[in-house]
Amino acid sequence: MSDPSTSTATDRYLERSRRHIAGGLFSLNRRTDPMIVFERAEGAHLWDVEGRRFIDYHAAFSPYFLGHGDPDVDGAVIDAIQRKTSLVGAGTTPWEGELAELLTEAVPSLEKVQVTNTGSEATSYAIRLARAATGRDAILLIQGGYNGWEDDVAFNLMDPPDAQTPRADGPGLALNPITNGMPASIRDNVFIVQFNDLDAADEVLATGRIAAVMLEPVLQNIGVVKPQPGYLEGLRAACDRSGSLLIFDEVKTGFRNGLGGYQAICGVRPDLSTFGKAVANGYPLGVVGGSAEVMRFVDHPDPKQRVLVAGTYNGHPVPSYAAIATLRKLRDRGEEIYGHVERLSRTMEDGLRAIFDGVDYPVTIARQNSAFVAYFMDHPPRDWLDLVSSNDMQRDARYRARLIEHGVFHFPTPTKQGSISFAHAEDDIATTLAITERIVAAGL
Ligand SMILES: Cc1ncc(COP(=O)(O)O)c(C=O)c1O
Repeated sequence: MSDPSTSTATDRYLERSRRHIAGGLFSLNRRTDPMIVFERAEGAHLWDVEGRRFIDYHAAFSPYFLGHGDPDVDGAVIDAIQRKTSLVGAGTTPWEGELAELLTEAVPSLEKVQVTNTGSEATSYAIRLARAATGRDAILLIQGGYNGWEDDVAFNLMDPPDAQTPRADGPGLALNPITNGMPASIRDNVFIVQFNDLDAADEVLATGRIAAVMLEPVLQNIGVVKPQPGYLEGLRAACDRSGSLLIFDEVKTGFRNGLGGYQAICGVRPDLSTFGKAVANGYPLGVVGGSAEVMRFVDHPDPKQRVLVAGTYNGHPVPSYAAIATLRKLRDRGEEIYGHVERLSRTMEDGLRAIFDGVDYPVTIARQNSAFVAYFMDHPPRDWLDLVSSNDMQRDARYRARLIEHGVFHFPTPTKQGSISFAHAEDDIATTLAITERIVAAGL
């Protein structure tokens, strides 16, 4: 027990959480060192229980593209409550059709959609749909990509170089689960390759066992690792050759790169896509959708072929209203919103480049629209193996820790992306760059 006369508010909250929460906090991947107890967020800023203010570039792992507490989104949520909309849980509702309409208009590959509460549910359903549509069980994933916490995808995230070895019993990489508690049999149906390695993907696809390749089209769970020219097109062609589906997991890239997702930028049309995060600007909503041919399995005329999509809270009015308000705003004021974010993001990118220009260690700034990261290596990474082998993780961690000490919040884990929102102002970027300049000058 901490001494109540000397302990801080942070100590007291941490102690209380530790007492009854397994692991001391909800969602263990939020653990940081030191732990900060945040109590409020508005626009581009966070406040902790000590009253410290931070400029936020974490955006709660990136949903807040319009900023925390966006007035239009929160207004819609309040409206949903005041109108006495509720989760009746029978039949449909007026807002379901509108939300589906906005989604299918925004992303051309979404001919039909279903909504869930989280990104992980969306990726689970995408895999189930792909298995039903192809009659195959195995999936191909990317080293360093994150697609959710479910068993099928809980493999090979930020592994050390010596763990990224060839698989003994087939093509691709050895499997490194990111969780205990999975059945051993799951391994038979999961294959992993490095990002941007088309030959390796081809080799796995040639087994004829792959229902779907699922990947983040830009690897944004390890910063901003971009597809090389021709890579996504090559995957599309390889999937077509092998009768596998291509799933873009746009839970992180979606709606931050423009209304049409990253797929509108790269021009590659996936069979299925998943969205989450920015789609409802911080409220819990996931989306799975794609070609009518695959999506028809949710209501297949043959009950044995039908794919169950169900959830007590699917289509709940609060996140649904939030998503409708977000999508309408992005549609109606898209030029202004994406223009503002792009301008600030470019200022950040240019500013960081200039600050790190004179240092005697390698730095590479990578950016994809609102997502940016400073890598402490001399080239943009090609994949996680390249990144973990080249990036100076200690310096990266010190950089993040110093920024946090000075009121700029990036997630403290090396390689994690920063996110700029519509709520950031030029002043926030200028202040961040001035702070960065000072901490870099003082030595990292
Ligand atoms: C690309 C990607 N897919 C899926 C997920 C899982 O989404 P959720 O945490 O909402 O379940 C995440 C979460 O970080 C993600 O970044």
